[in-house]
Formats: sequence, C-alpha cells, structure tokens
Amino acid sequence: MNKRTRQLSSLLVIWGACASLPAWADAIQRGQAIAQQGNGQGAIACLSCHGPQGEGNAAGGFPRLAGLPAGYLSHQLRSYRDGTRQNPMMQPFALALTDEDIQAVSAYYASLEGEDVNLPTSYQAAAPENTAEWLAERGDWENTIPACNQCHGPNGQGVGDTFPPLAGQHASYLAAQLNAWRNGTRSNDPNGLMQGIAERLSEEQIGLITAYYATLPEQLSANAAAGQEETP
Ligand code: HEC
Ligand code: HEC
Repeated sequence: MNKRTRQLSSLLVIWGACASLPAWADAIQRGQAIAQQGNGQGAIACLSCHGPQGEGNAAGGFPRLAGLPAGYLSHQLRSYRDGTRQNPMMQPFALALTDEDIQAVSAYYASLEGEDVNLPTSYQAAAPENTAEWLAERGDWENTIPACNQCHGPNGQGVGDTFPPLAGQHASYLAAQLNAWRNGTRSNDPNGLMQGIAERLSEEQIGLITAYYATLPEQLSANAAAGQEETP
C-alpha cells in the first residue's frame, strides 16, 4: 500500500467507525438487556451464571465474558448453535438466540472493562510456576507444543477476534476447554489449531498452565473497544 492509499483507507476506517457508532451503541444496550433479563425466547439472563459484571465463576466453571473481543464471543455462540462446540448448559441458550441477539450480547460483553471484574483473590495471589511460564513463552518443542503466547499474544492477552485472551480467565474453565478438545466436544477452532495442542499437553502441564494464566493480570482495555481493527 502506498502512502496515499493508506491515508485514504484510514480516513475510510474513521468515517466507517463514526457512521456505525449509533448502531453499535444500540446493540450494546440491547445486549445488556439480554444479559440482565434474557431475551424472552428461551435464553435466560446470562448474569445468573456469568455474574453481574460478566466476571464468571470459577467454582461453577462459568467463564469470564467481560472484555473478550466481540468477534470471538459471537463465534463461540454460533459454534454452540451449530454443534461444533458442545456443552449441555450453553447450547440450549445459544439456540434460543437470534443472530441479532448474538451480535448485541457480544457487543455488550466486549464493552465491559476488564478492570470492573473482581477476580477471586486466590487467583491473584498464587505464584506462577516457572515451567508454566516457559511453556507459555517458549513452548515444549520436544512434544511439538508451540508457545501459547505465540498465538494468544504477549502475556496471553489475546490477539484480535481469533485468539482469545487466556490471562485472568478462570483456571477451572481453561482446563475444561483443553479437556473438551481432547475428548472431541469442542471442535470449533480454525484449522484444528487448538485440538492438536490440547492432545499433546500432559495432565500436569494442563494443571500448571491454566493456573499460570489465571494469575496473570488482564489488560483488556485494548480488546474491549470492540469492533476496532487490530494491527498485529
Ligand atoms: C446456566 C448457566 C449459564 C447461563 C444462564 C449462560 N451460560 Fe454461557 N456458559 C456457561 C458454561 C458452563 C460455559 C462453559 C461451557 C463450555 O465449557 O464450553 C459457558 C460458556 C459461554 C461462552 C464461551 C466463552 C469462551 O470464552 O469461549 C459464551 C460466549 C457464553 N457462555 C455466553 C452466554 C450468554 C450470552 C448467555 C446469555 C444469553 C449465557 N452464556 C448464559 C453457563 C451459562
Ligand atoms: C497456533 C495457534 C495457537 C497456539 C500455539 C495456542 N493456541 Fe490456544 N487457541 C487458539 C485459537 C485459534 C483458539 C480459539 C478457538 C475458537 O475459536 O474456539 C484458542 C483457544 C484456547 C482456549 C479456549 C479459551 C476460551 O476462552 O474458551 C484455551 C484454554 C487455549 N487456547 C489454551 C492454549 C494453551 C494452554 C496453549 C499453549 C500450550 C495454546 N492455547 C496455544 C490458537 C492457539
């Protein structure tokens, strides 16, 4: 791209963002209503499991949704709907959501600031294990496992709509997802990127790496401004 086209395209991006702002604000408002009251069509209030601020619940295995990218959230909801991600609890709710509901509720959760989320103190206090940090940053190439942060971004903060943040997510939930890829109940990952990795991780590594990411602080503000373009 030369300088002029770049200038022109950034102008177009700004113009596009301004034009779509009111629609985005409407979607967030509608999404908030669904999160707090359900959609009246079979999807109950999301907050009853995902918490009043989308902070999730470690004991229940309910993931944090606050501050995750909207594109990632809507992909997950569509995956529960089409069965490429199976979960007996989430699937019925996802099936009860229309495309518009999915867009709205994803916009809403993406708009919540990570800072509003109160993680249980046990997650903040535990000391990260060296081996988990090594796995996160360098991988375990003897077992053909790439560094998690290669895809999930520095400190597991996530990259764009495709690679979700792992930092600050509940350990129990992260472990459940790795096990879901191992037993085939989650198969919605692009090109099977995660399934192979999950299969090659040892039980011990799963325990360490999920505890490690749960202790890392989330810095979700970069992702939280949903709908924006990420420059990797
Ligand atoms: C009865 C409890 C319950 C309710 C109500 C509920 N969820 Fe969930 N949700 C779960 C559980 C459990 C999981 C983890 C399932 C799994 O392991 O795949 C989950 C996972 C998710 C995920 C995947 C998150 C990720 O990081 O991949 C999204 C998105 C989600 N829920 C959105 C919603 C929305 C939107 C609503 C409201 C319309 C809702 N949920 C209502 C229990 C619930
Ligand atoms: C080659 C790229 C790549 C690498 C390396 C990678 N991941 Fe992932 N991971 C992904 C993608 C893509 C997704 C989202 C899949 C989807 O759309 O459902 C994901 C999702 C996840 C999730 C589910 C998060 C959620 O909110 O539901 C967990 C847990 C996870 N990865 C853990 C790891 C761990 C631990 C490592 C390192 C051992 C790792 N990943 C390495 C690409 C990668």
